[in-house]
Amino acid sequence: MKVIRVRDYSELSQRAATYFINKLTQSHFGVWGLATGGTPKGMYKELIIQAEEKGVSFQNLHTVNLDEYVGLQPNDPTSYHSYMQEHLFQAIDIPSENIHIPNGMASDLEKECDRYEEMIKGLEKIDIQLLGVGENGHIGFNEPGTSFDSRTHVIQLESSTREANARYFDRLGDVPTHAITMGIQTIMEASEVVLLASGKNKAKSLHALLCEKEVTEDIPATILKKHPHVTVIADEEALSLVLLTCERENEQVLKF
Ligand code: GLP
Repeated sequence: MKVIRVRDYSELSQRAATYFINKLTQSHFGVWGLATGGTPKGMYKELIIQAEEKGVSFQNLHTVNLDEYVGLQPNDPTSYHSYMQEHLFQAIDIPSENIHIPNGMASDLEKECDRYEEMIKGLEKIDIQLLGVGENGHIGFNEPGTSFDSRTHVIQLESSTREANARYFDRLGDVPTHAITMGIQTIMEASEVVLLASGKNKAKSLHALLCEKEVTEDIPATILKKHPHVTVIADEEALSLVLLTCERENEQVLKF
């Protein structure tokens, strides 16, 4: 696992965007797994700027998003469909048919999960999967206790996750109780994973990932220790516990 230590959120966003833009300029096509939440917003903003500066086209790119709330219309401003349009897709030249996000309004949610898995198989593989991480160590919406063997499925959100995401809704009661998420096995099959973490509230999750030996379903992100190609881009605050307790083990990777 490679750790890129950055000073703050602004540097994290720039480094992450450059990383993804370089992938695209190297191959001109591919499948990106994308994430939502507060963390990648800055990266998407930078991605748009850097793509414009470098004349990079997204015409041959396919994207598959990690998750979507159950019960929100795609045009609901709090859906992840809307989030992706607002923060990335409306500003780049990706064909709409190349964009894939789970349908949280499907009448048969199990069928929708199977369709999503089949769609990913049809694209062969995810070349690079972007991840954030929850305060409880969740990846995508795979809450603690989710099986490492899981594929795209419906999950009941923990109250702590609903509370953390309530800032995007008028009131806590409006935060959906369920979501569709890519499974942990689905995520692990991506050729490469890039995880972004910013801020003190991510320090415990990063400590579990970088300092503790245990790989446990209680902290879903710990499975990434078993993935052959992971890059963590994290700022000083997110790394604060790591720097306090296991800097020596990570001496090389944590240097600027
Ligand atoms: C959300 C998303 C995750 C995201 C995580 C952290 O619930 N489903 O994909 O990585 O929680 O979010 P944030 O970046 O806002 O802290």
